[in-house]
Amino acid sequence: MKKIFITANLPGDSVEILKENFDIEIFPYRRSPTREELIRGARNCSALVTMVTDNIDKDVINSSDELEIISNCGVGYENIDIEHATKRGVYVTNTPGVLTEATADLAWSLITSVARRVLEGDRLIREGEFINWEPTLLLGQNIYDKTLGIYGMGRIGNSIARRAKGFNMNIFYHNRNRNADAEKLTNARYVDFTTLLNKSDYIVISAPLNAQSAGRFGADEFRQMKKTSIIINVGRGKIINENDLAEALEKNEIWGAGLDVFENEPVVSDKLLKLKNTVLLPHLGSASYETRCTMSEMAICDVLKVLDGKTPVNPVNKLHLN
Ligand code: DGY
Repeated sequence: MKKIFITANLPGDSVEILKENFDIEIFPYRRSPTREELIRGARNCSALVTMVTDNIDKDVINSSDELEIISNCGVGYENIDIEHATKRGVYVTNTPGVLTEATADLAWSLITSVARRVLEGDRLIREGEFINWEPTLLLGQNIYDKTLGIYGMGRIGNSIARRAKGFNMNIFYHNRNRNADAEKLTNARYVDFTTLLNKSDYIVISAPLNAQSAGRFGADEFRQMKKTSIIINVGRGKIINENDLAEALEKNEIWGAGLDVFENEPVVSDKLLKLKNTVLLPHLGSASYETRCTMSEMAICDVLKVLDGKTPVNPVNKLHLN
């Protein structure tokens, strides 16, 4: 029987269909496997079903001569050594498209919660501090009619922009390439990075992590943003220098931040934890029940295809197979 290692518990029943024909091992803990546990788990496997938090390096890939596919349950795949997998003739697949709307919804949850101080209000009530309707209590920022700046106008950025139309927002975006579809659909305007920084009231990061985006937002960038501005990150944590962000928030160089991803996940810097003007979420972008079930199904479906000698539906690498 071919062996499959799945690095986390998946929702829904997609794994059930594998159990009859394959030898399945599921990593049983809530944390991610360590490097040693990945190497051990992958040994003699034909397929790995991995999460975006697993670092699938050369040694993990080399730990099985039988490996045919690494199926990443997520749209991002910067956690996998694609070049080495390709050299070894191993397919790498992901789950694009399906999580776009859920992630855009969550970006908007962060925008509204930070702008209107939703969590601070909730805490105030629970702490028995709701004494009266006060004209100066927890004043936030308007969203309607403001300017939204999107850093990373891919599928998710586009969906965030579509929702912004309902708030009558002026939409700017900055991206490696112009996105004509987004411009047509949402009236978003392409701007240079500096304009995005100094003209936006809300900056939402929905870019993947790559050489251009890594560390793109640091002390200099925060200084160029409006003092009333809010930054949201639903892309990847390493796009923001977290220490610089905490300092900019402390010094009131910007007004607030909503983060779903962190530089050293799952560790969140103490400085950020102490600040009131932040809303911090544990990487929940795609975490609706329907979306996570569909992601799991897509990941399993590509495993079944490849182990059956077929081409996967969502390959991120090209193999030159005979
Ligand atoms: C992804 O898919 O890349 C997200 O970060 C997890 O849903």
